[in-house]
Amino acid sequence: MITGGAGFIGGNLLNFLLRKASMKLVVIDKLTYAGSLRGLEPVMANPRVTFLHADVADQAAMQDCLLKHRPEVVIHLAAESHVDRSIEDCAPFLHSNIIGSAVLLEQCRIALQRHPSLLASFRFIQVSTDEVHGSLQAADPPWNEQSPCLPRSPYSASKAAADHLVMAWHHTHGIPAMIARCCNIYGPRQFPEKLIPLCLLKILHSEPIPLYGRGDNIRQWLHVDDLCDGLYQIAMKGSRGAIYPISSAVSLSNLELVRQLCRHADELLDRRESSEALITTVADRPGHDFRYAMDSSRIQRECGWRAGRDFGQGLRETLSWYLEHRDWWQPVVNEALRRRAAPPTPH
Ligand SMILES: NC(=O)c1ccc[n+]([C@@H]2O[C@H](COP(=O)([O-])OP(=O)(O)OC[C@H]3O[C@@H](n4cnc5c(N)ncnc54)[C@H](O)[C@@H]3O)[C@@H](O)[C@H]2O)c1
Repeated sequence: MITGGAGFIGGNLLNFLLRKASMKLVVIDKLTYAGSLRGLEPVMANPRVTFLHADVADQAAMQDCLLKHRPEVVIHLAAESHVDRSIEDCAPFLHSNIIGSAVLLEQCRIALQRHPSLLASFRFIQVSTDEVHGSLQAADPPWNEQSPCLPRSPYSASKAAADHLVMAWHHTHGIPAMIARCCNIYGPRQFPEKLIPLCLLKILHSEPIPLYGRGDNIRQWLHVDDLCDGLYQIAMKGSRGAIYPISSAVSLSNLELVRQLCRHADELLDRRESSEALITTVADRPGHDFRYAMDSSRIQRECGWRAGRDFGQGLRETLSWYLEHRDWWQPVVNEALRRRAAPPTPH
């Protein structure tokens, strides 16, 4: 069972799992502004896939689904995921990320109680974020699985709350659960409010590329295919109750990332004038975390996972995907505008 399967990581994970293995997939998504089945038509038409349009906070729907399909693995991606939106209005974050996670965990507990034979193979994988740890200074060592949760934004606080619920249901109710904490993920099908697609769209329209503060905030970047492989390896080989940081060796300031992106975009678009001239600094995000960095040795050691994608090539392929799939992102942008969603801002 994949929750949030119509989102960025979810859509990529569905394609990855259909290629990788022969399991059946139950996909749950509320189809918020960030979720779209566009481009997933072949996935949804696959007889191995069942789609349920539902809110993970809907107790009855989750109970029906879990009792009917009795999944062996739940990968819980469904969440509100954009920090700036959590600053503007935290209510959807509290609902989906905290209440939704609690409802899903409780319904898993009930399903396992009714069907105890499922317990031997069952795994609940909570997909979380490095942001739950707070903010590092330049010289600090990276976080690992033992680092404390010290979230500083409404988004990261809601994800940390969900992580605590997962561990509470694991220790108190014996739910076989684990947490995958991921760095910044990039790749095709990301909603165009996030930094990489946002910058490319700004370049396409020759509009200013907004960059928070001085652009010196540092993030690690991992290709979505590498993350999908990591989640699969955790599902197959991970230990119950474990926390697995999943990150890459690619640590870049936002300014470095945007400059690289401009260079690739200019080459792909055959532009003579550098798009770097479009980079425009804007007032910093309130409470903007300076640096995230995680040490992924645990997943490497225990699950044999390695990040395989070269960043430069992955970034270029991602940009090419957006350039070739205007038919995907233009309606997504139009729909978001129609819903009167907040204007796009960087991740
Ligand atoms: N993208 C990243 O860089 C990144 C990094 C670390 C962690 N994560 C985590 O990975 C998960 C997926 O991220 P993403 O980038 O794919 O996000 P996304 O915003 O692209 O997709 C989220 C999906 O969840 C769905 N959803 C939201 N609330 C729901 C609800 N109450 N019930 C059912 N469906 C609901 C949305 O419709 C959407 O399809 C999130 O939990 C996020 O916190 C993402």
